Amino acid sequence: MEVRNQIRFLLNDEEVRLKDLSPDLSLLDYLRLNKDLVGTKEGCNEGDCGACTVLVGKLVFGELIYESVNACIRFVPSLDL
Ligand code: FES
Repeated sequence: MEVRNQIRFLLNDEEVRLKDLSPDLSLLDYLRLNKDLVGTKEGCNEGDCGACTVLVGKLVFGELIYESVNACIRFVPSLDL
């Protein structure tokens, strides 16, 4: 098993590598505050309203599968490839 001190994921076709980030940094805060992607809205911030919905893709047997997630309750470290 590979051990890394950073997480990696793709954001709009660009690789992102992050280290030393808070384990409870929400995807919503990361997108809005760090990447200035303010099209992702904040509503309830509790996972109930869906205002923050984004698509997250993952490889399943070589095929990219997308799922909608509430960015306010998804932590950035969970996006690691
Ligand atoms: S802000 Fe309401 S579900 Fe995320």
